[in-house]
Amino acid sequence: MATAVLGMQWGDEGKGKITHLLAKQADMVVRFNGGPNAGHTMIDRGVKFGTHQIPAGAFYSDTCCVLASGMVVDMWVLREEYEAISHHLGREPQLLVSESAHLILPYHRILEELEGSGARIGTTRRGIGTAYRDKAARVGIRAGDLLHPQRLCDKLSHRLDLLKRMWPASSEIASLSVESLSETLLAASQPFLESITDASAAIRLALKEGKVIFEGAQGALLDLDFGTYPYVTSSSTTLAGLGNAIGIPFPQVEQRIGVVKAYTTRVGEGPFPTELADEEGGKQLREQGGEFGVTTGRPRRCGWLDLVALRHAAALNDPTRLDITKLDVLSGMAEIKVCRAYRLRGSKITDFPHGRGEELALCEPIYETFPGWDEEIGNVRKLEELPQAARDYLEVVTQEVGVPIGLVSVGPAPEETIVT
Ligand code: GDP
Ligand code: IMO
Ligand code: MG
Repeated sequence: MATAVLGMQWGDEGKGKITHLLAKQADMVVRFNGGPNAGHTMIDRGVKFGTHQIPAGAFYSDTCCVLASGMVVDMWVLREEYEAISHHLGREPQLLVSESAHLILPYHRILEELEGSGARIGTTRRGIGTAYRDKAARVGIRAGDLLHPQRLCDKLSHRLDLLKRMWPASSEIASLSVESLSETLLAASQPFLESITDASAAIRLALKEGKVIFEGAQGALLDLDFGTYPYVTSSSTTLAGLGNAIGIPFPQVEQRIGVVKAYTTRVGEGPFPTELADEEGGKQLREQGGEFGVTTGRPRRCGWLDLVALRHAAALNDPTRLDITKLDVLSGMAEIKVCRAYRLRGSKITDFPHGRGEELALCEPIYETFPGWDEEIGNVRKLEELPQAARDYLEVVTQEVGVPIGLVSVGPAPEETIVT
């Protein structure tokens, strides 16, 4: 039995909370895309964690966590997270790292700065795009290389030679040496060397014998191919990309959970039709929702729920249920808007123009307005105890996507959840 937890917007939908809730029953939790650009928040036994690479299964002793080959892994960040979680748990999490996962090395972050994509795209500046580019250009270093120090040094030497020729004026690049890089990399990776393996084989076995959760990172609208290119991340973030990222064709994922925040947020640059840019509503959502990035601390851009974009995300993720998060944040809004269509050059359109980012930037949302509710709902545990206006709002979402609601989250803690 397999479950995928997938972001349906521009990331930060609350995937961490949902995965952490479900992981208790899982034998394996797999991260399959991205790297430390992700920031997944969960509250474990009262302690808040923002994880970047380690899947939510780490908090349960019987659950194996896998960093699959579709990821780009920063060993220094991994070490820090691993130590923090081990300290919290009083034991080390079970971890497997795919031998074919690519590594983020210090020069990937340096390159991102030199090339200016941090500012242009508004990236997390974690070296994600430059590491995936090295993978595609076949000059990447993979986790499996850590098991063969001489091979690692040969590959690093080739990569550093190229870099120094490309960036002769960069003192940061000039200061890199194979000796110190390999030494610090192997030191940071030391606790994980025995965990580097053929992760696909392990996942395949777990899929046969137990319960597996695939913990998505980012969201459908940040997908490299079907998101709002070029304002996207550099990996496949959807169910469509899962098979390739784990090396298993057509993985049977019976439960596909589309995680939807009750409104929309986006971090970084790029079009966002329902954004409440300088308006009071945007400020209210940011403050009530605590909308500041887990990875970078940046204020998130906030706006109304975009059902046009959500239908596009549903096509990419084929969800069997929608888990709605942060419904509590809408309490106290005088009215709530949703967008079911855009106006583009005077015409109404209902399809998301994902392949034409320039057009998305020109789209104006056509809103429908619903009454809000004043009641605090953080203590509600049954759907029928929600205010009628909140139930009506959930009904609009589920009707539009044609998929039932699974959980409704009304606060960051695991118990602040309505199970339908
Ligand atoms: P992820 O990247 O999808 O895991 O989401 P993030 O962790 O980046 O952002 C979600 C934020 O909302 C975190 O601070 C969570 O603790 C918080 N959160 C999750 N669910 C709820 C909820 O239902 N209500 C409120 N108020 N906060 C929530
Ligand atoms: P989680 O898993 C929100 C965004 C960045 C930027 C774009 C490209 O927590 O939902 P990158 O560093 O990946 O090259 O940046 O993607 N981005 C995210 N936004 N949540 C995330 O992850 C994100 N990961 C990347 O802000 O706009
Ligand atoms: Mg996040």
